[in-house]
Amino acid sequence: MRYISPSILSADFANLERDVEMLNASSADYIHCDIMDGNFVPNISFGFPVLSAIHRVATKPQEVHLMIEDPGRYVSQFRDAGADILTVHHESSIHLDRLVHQIKDAGMKAGVAICPATPVSVLSEIAEEADLVLLMSVNPGFGGQKFIDNTFKKVIELVELRKRGNDDFVIEIDGGVNMDNAGRLFEAGADILVAGSAVFKAEDPTAMIEELKQSQRYRA
Ligand code: DX5
Ligand code: ZN
Repeated sequence: MRYISPSILSADFANLERDVEMLNASSADYIHCDIMDGNFVPNISFGFPVLSAIHRVATKPQEVHLMIEDPGRYVSQFRDAGADILTVHHESSIHLDRLVHQIKDAGMKAGVAICPATPVSVLSEIAEEADLVLLMSVNPGFGGQKFIDNTFKKVIELVELRKRGNDDFVIEIDGGVNMDNAGRLFEAGADILVAGSAVFKAEDPTAMIEELKQSQRYRA
């Protein structure tokens, strides 16, 4: 699969409706919504009112990436605010198995994320329960950071783990994705690429979404 999920964190928040309409009309497959609480990560993004506002305009599914402490406290609120997929961090959740089921029981798809310094092996017992596994390719907290190269190796390990377990979760990569790495990530086995600044800072964001989707490993 080759899916693109533009990260709304890089949108123009004074023109959010315009930017969501742009995504609606583009070949974007999802809208990636980053929730940051100033504790789990050193930044604060936005919360329920903004998510609900996006939901009123969006025609694409919202996948919500929680970078917050104790995410289990808010599962039903995120569903009510319009999340279709709710992704939580391994590093923020002691009872991850319970949380993944809580998310599914609330009627959403469940994603599990790991930070760049966390090995893929920590997912061995939970991956089969997840609908999506997100590999952070930057340290979470900010858009516009540089892609960390060890992600390629982790994608390959995750593809292996999926094959071994005969699992069907999709693999998502988040952070620093651009035309220099998108093709290689898809080839390595990634299904969904998140792209914030690459899309919203492009001269033509709609064209960039399509270019990322079609990108090949080696460019002329
Ligand atoms: C980082 C966020 C990412 C971010 C991606 O903590 O989880 O989703 O918005 O932005 P870019 O593509 O600019 O790295
Ligand atoms: Zn994210």
